[in-house]
Amino acid sequence: MTCIRSEIIGHGHYQPAKVLTNNDMAKIVETSDEWITERTGIKSRHIAAEGELTSDLAMHAAEMALKTAGISAEELDLIVVGTVTPDNTFPAVATKIAAKLGCRHGIPAFDLSAACSGFVYSLTMADNMLRLGQAKTALVIGAETLSRVTDWTDRNTCVLFGDGAGAVVIRAYEGKGDTTDRGVLSTKIFSDGAQYDNLYCKGGVSSTQTAGFTFMNGKEVFKSAIGCLTQAAETVAEQAGIKVTDIDWLLPHQANIRIIEGVGKKLELPESKVIVTIDHQANTSAASIPLALSECLESGKIKKGDLIIFNSMGAGFTWGGALVRI
Ligand code: UT7
Repeated sequence: MTCIRSEIIGHGHYQPAKVLTNNDMAKIVETSDEWITERTGIKSRHIAAEGELTSDLAMHAAEMALKTAGISAEELDLIVVGTVTPDNTFPAVATKIAAKLGCRHGIPAFDLSAACSGFVYSLTMADNMLRLGQAKTALVIGAETLSRVTDWTDRNTCVLFGDGAGAVVIRAYEGKGDTTDRGVLSTKIFSDGAQYDNLYCKGGVSSTQTAGFTFMNGKEVFKSAIGCLTQAAETVAEQAGIKVTDIDWLLPHQANIRIIEGVGKKLELPESKVIVTIDHQANTSAASIPLALSECLESGKIKKGDLIIFNSMGAGFTWGGALVRI
């Protein structure tokens, strides 16, 4: 039976110019390149310049996504931005992007707060809206300036995060309704608020009237991460009626190489099928998946027709997955 599918027709990414290596981090807190590399897989992270905002990062990614899609901003009829580091408490970064890109007056534009699962959640929302006929062409962005909510005296967290943005343009078309279709084939999102205190920003509009700083109970997050990421991947595969081992690529949220490798093993995927960009990207929260995807599409590593699972997990806890044929 035919059905509406959301095909990824464009991709973009951006990382700020300033790079902090692990050796640079060792000058800021008591740490070492050896510890960070071994425990996380991170070698360097990009940090936004003073005055460079989440919307600026998002704009770079958005412009590249429109260019690779070969469409103009007037063709967009929906913008969703996954972020937990908006320029202002309100309004949404997405409305600023719509205005800056020169989108048609009145198109819906909103931000979605799901921390590191922000892109998978945003893609799920946009895909559902396309499938319901509420939009035909959508821009989905993950963008963060996590450096602004990083406590640069806390070695437990400050070595982990980076700034960046990634974006995709998705467009509705009528597919055959099977897994040979291109586009989003299956999505599933989850949450567990009982884990709220294990990873959160200590501060906020309603509690402290400040943006606050990231707090993470790393061990607890680590314990849940492999299970959540595995569940997300298995669920989207099962919903589509395929085996996880049928995919060409697993593109997990880039939080820790040990988590990424653990998930790959649990899913019985060879290392060569698991995408790793954490070394030069660090953890960019909602930006991590679209950033890595766009890099891999640009380099030709991921090709048209490839079957890929995105899976992510983060604060909330939130987690989720998407099965997509590029
Ligand atoms: O994006 C959302 C999802 N987030 C995640 O998935 C992150 C999940 N958690 C993790 O990735 C890991 O738990 C961390 C990378 C955050 C920490 O790794 P760990 O292997 O769990 O280290 P630990 O917290 O058990 O700390 C081991 C030791 C401690 O010293 P003692 O108490 O054993 O003397 C820490 O104080 O390492 C110490 N340590 C550091 N040492 C050097 C913690 N951070 C650092 C550091 N440099 N930056």
